[in-house]
Amino acid sequence: MGCCFGKKAEQAVQGDGDVHSVKVFSYSELRKATQDFSGANKIGEGGFGSVFRGVLKDETVVAVKVLSATSRQGIREFLTELTAISDIKHENLVTLIGCCAEGSHRILIYNYLENNSLSQTLLGTRYSNIRFNWRARVKIAVGVARGLAFLHEEIRPPIIHRDIKASNILLDKDLTPKISDFGLARLLPPNATHVSTRVAGTLGYLAPEYAIRGQVTKKSDIYSYGVLLLEIVSGRCNTNTRLPSEDQFLLERTWGLYEEERLEEIIDIDVGDDLDVEEACRFMKIGLLCTQDAMARRPNMTNVVRMLTGEKRINVDKITRPAMITDFADLKVSNKGQRSSETRSPATTAPTTFTTTEPFSSSETPTQSSM
Ligand SMILES: Nc1ncnc2c1ncn2[C@@H]1O[C@H](COP(=O)(O)OP(=O)(O)O)[C@@H](O)[C@H]1O
Ligand SMILES: [Mg+2]
Repeated sequence: MGCCFGKKAEQAVQGDGDVHSVKVFSYSELRKATQDFSGANKIGEGGFGSVFRGVLKDETVVAVKVLSATSRQGIREFLTELTAISDIKHENLVTLIGCCAEGSHRILIYNYLENNSLSQTLLGTRYSNIRFNWRARVKIAVGVARGLAFLHEEIRPPIIHRDIKASNILLDKDLTPKISDFGLARLLPPNATHVSTRVAGTLGYLAPEYAIRGQVTKKSDIYSYGVLLLEIVSGRCNTNTRLPSEDQFLLERTWGLYEEERLEEIIDIDVGDDLDVEEACRFMKIGLLCTQDAMARRPNMTNVVRMLTGEKRINVDKITRPAMITDFADLKVSNKGQRSSETRSPATTAPTTFTTTEPFSSSETPTQSSM
């Protein structure tokens, strides 16, 4: 990857007296790569800032993520945290290529993934020419589970993702899923840590204990993974207010069909003729297990992988009504954990912010690996 150290950036790194393994780009180099961060090159905007497509001098295509003002911190802390993230390599995680920390600019450079995210392709409203047959979905579901199991179980200290959702699952050219945005919470000062639900649907991924009490644990990631798994099998967004009321919330709908032993009815009709109905129903039961209200009932990610691949039996006795925060959709949570009711019209897209108090709470229940 032919990125050169810009003069200023090089000084910044050397000024720290440390050797950082992450490659440092100069701001002017990134301006060139993105044609001055032009609107035409903008590929998205999320809670942390804007993302641009860029082409480096050596023609490598990259995604350039410009962190927003709230993400700013000292250059030294930024580079230290980034070094920790850049060392994390796994087939199902996006690769961080480098960064830029010049003046007030804080920018991350990732591999560009040409097939975009699951939210734009599988769940998107716009036409996508990718067809997700059943095998492709199995590969995506298992790959994401492996990536998350790696973050939770194989890294010391473990990384809680905090924002598992379809737009953070990127797809490479052969539809291998790559989890993006892991470890970013560490780049934010603790008091600025937040999950901003720009899109109403994002709320649907949040475990109630996270949304209401700001309690972040591996189990809240596992909840989000469960919701994502249902989306992968059904091809539907977790929330769709345009549907008839009984169909608006995917988790609620799936639970209803599970109780009536009609789970297969929610499988995506576009899945193709390689569908394995039994396997698809198994995946949905795993999704229901991951979204249980009692955190101890949610399996850990290693066991999720084993259940997906059929190495471990699903204990259906543990499946009860999942926890759903759709009943609380009009709540705003303050950082003191106090709830205040807000009357918002359902059509409002203004972000709802859930402020969390503990960036890396380790309040796991001791029974977390009991399944
Ligand atoms: N490495 C990447 N390759 C291709 N597209 C990307 C990449 N990173 C992000 N994107 C696109 O940019 C969009 C915005 O990303 P992001 O700022 O992380 O916000 P969010 O994840 O909340 O949608 C994503 O939905 C995705 O479509
Ligand atoms: Mg993202």
